[in-house]
Amino acid sequence: MGILEELFDISGKTALVTGAAGGIGACTAEVFCALGADVLLVDINGEALEAQAAKMKGLSGQARPFVCNAADESEVTGLRDEILKKPGHVDILVNSHGIARRASADEITAEQFDVLLEVNLRSVFLLTALIGRTMTARGSGAIVNISSTAAHVSMPNNVNYAASKGGLEAMTRSFAGEWAGRGVRVNAIAPGPCRTGFTENLYKQDRYVENLLKKIPRGEIAVPMDIVGSILLLSTRAGINITGQTLIVDGGFTII
Ligand SMILES: NC(=O)c1ccc[n+]([C@@H]2O[C@H](COP(=O)([O-])OP(=O)(O)OC[C@H]3O[C@@H](n4cnc5c(N)ncnc54)[C@H](O)[C@@H]3O)[C@@H](O)[C@H]2O)c1
Repeated sequence: MGILEELFDISGKTALVTGAAGGIGACTAEVFCALGADVLLVDINGEALEAQAAKMKGLSGQARPFVCNAADESEVTGLRDEILKKPGHVDILVNSHGIARRASADEITAEQFDVLLEVNLRSVFLLTALIGRTMTARGSGAIVNISSTAAHVSMPNNVNYAASKGGLEAMTRSFAGEWAGRGVRVNAIAPGPCRTGFTENLYKQDRYVENLLKKIPRGEIAVPMDIVGSILLLSTRAGINITGQTLIVDGGFTII
């Protein structure tokens, strides 16, 4: 095996990817699987999940779908127990599920706030804690939580989403600090604007896209493949000395 392959080798690893029926999660699952990892695909949307798993047949690794609401503690516990039976362990956890419920600062309700914290933050706590503890027990593992540039800059109608992602990054650092000496790294990626189901309604508006592009120095809205390389870095030997960090992957959106 050459040095490049050794640094980024993921073959034979077991990776659990949440939000695996969505844009960034599905792309991560496909790339990992194409590189020889066995991937446990987790999503709340059973139909889309089955379709994604079917699409991945024939790739180098195995793809196994699990329908699970990541915000439900008993479902996540059940998922963990199922995985402990077979395949028995997880090497890499990518938490890529998430929702947005846009509401202006003038109108947002406590309920709209709570939902975002439950689905985008508490759920990542559950997965990181329950799957992460199986990693510390084995003495190895890598966790990558998908945050957002919304945790770093103010964007309209985003109070609830920004709070969930800011909390996610702080939580990532704290898990990383406690587990760094036990072989488990915990990091986050903060993507900037990316074309997925998450954003497709916004990006249907030409005016919105035109204004957005003015704020992205790279001059392009990312596609999921533009994000996945950074997830691979944090999941493999190449990222061995990185923990507790949030890597901003945004074409320069937050630097101007
Ligand atoms: N697309 C962007 O511009 C962008 C930018 C920054 C951050 N992000 C983040 O990236 C991550 C992935 O988003 P995406 O763009 O791929 O969105 P997406 O909507 O395409 O995919 C998200 C997936 O999460 C699943 N999901 C939602 N709630 C769930 C739950 N409770 N349990 C299990 N699965 C659930 C959905 O069914 C969906 O398949 C999210 O955390 C999002 O906040 C996206």
